[in-house]
Amino acid sequence: MKNVIVLWSSPNTDGLTAAAKDAVTAGLRAGNADARAVQLNRLHMEHCRACGDGWGSCRTKGRCILEDDFQSLYDDLAGADGIVFITAVYFHDLTESFKAFLDRLRRCDAFTARRLTDKRCLLVACAGGTGQGTSECLARLEYTMKHMNMRAYDRLPVNRFNREYMLPALEEAGKAYAQRLETGFDMYY
Ligand SMILES: Cc1cc2nc3c(=O)[nH]c(=O)nc-3n(C[C@H](O)[C@H](O)[C@H](O)COP(=O)(O)O)c2cc1C
Repeated sequence: MKNVIVLWSSPNTDGLTAAAKDAVTAGLRAGNADARAVQLNRLHMEHCRACGDGWGSCRTKGRCILEDDFQSLYDDLAGADGIVFITAVYFHDLTESFKAFLDRLRRCDAFTARRLTDKRCLLVACAGGTGQGTSECLARLEYTMKHMNMRAYDRLPVNRFNREYMLPALEEAGKAYAQRLETGFDMYY
């Protein structure tokens, strides 16, 4: 059985982002994966201090000097077979929680540690306001992941106007992703 972390960010436990998390998680479980959802907003996550001369010791040590929930989440992601990132869209971008976490993750992983290389992830952006900004948000997320040699399996835009058909699609995507983790990804990227 493959283990998958569903890392999601919104302060709301009953909004669009949470509904997306529930749909993907249900699909992952239907695909026989061991799925665990982690709400980033509930963790203690400081922002990068750009310590030392700006590069920090994380570049060579693969660890952050700050003591909060970062390291255990990094360890969990490194140990996971699959990762799903689900963010609410704020200002056409990721949530501040996601930005703070990914800033540090990239610094720790992209140079020496490389514990996330080749992990293929499912990306979801949830725009509950005007519905604008999912494309920019998903592109930004994928760009950051590329620094860590992580790759996207798919990029899924959800808003309050398409939720009726996107939530079932997310469940199907979760199931398909779980099955691909078992059988392999037939993709050259
Ligand atoms: C600071 C802020 C910026 C937001 N920017 C956008 C946006 O660019 N596009 C959009 O459709 N919704 C935007 N929203 C709405 C959120 O995407 C989201 O739907 C809302 O915060 C409710 O969260 P939920 O996903 O938990 O339902 C914004 C919300 C906040 C708080």
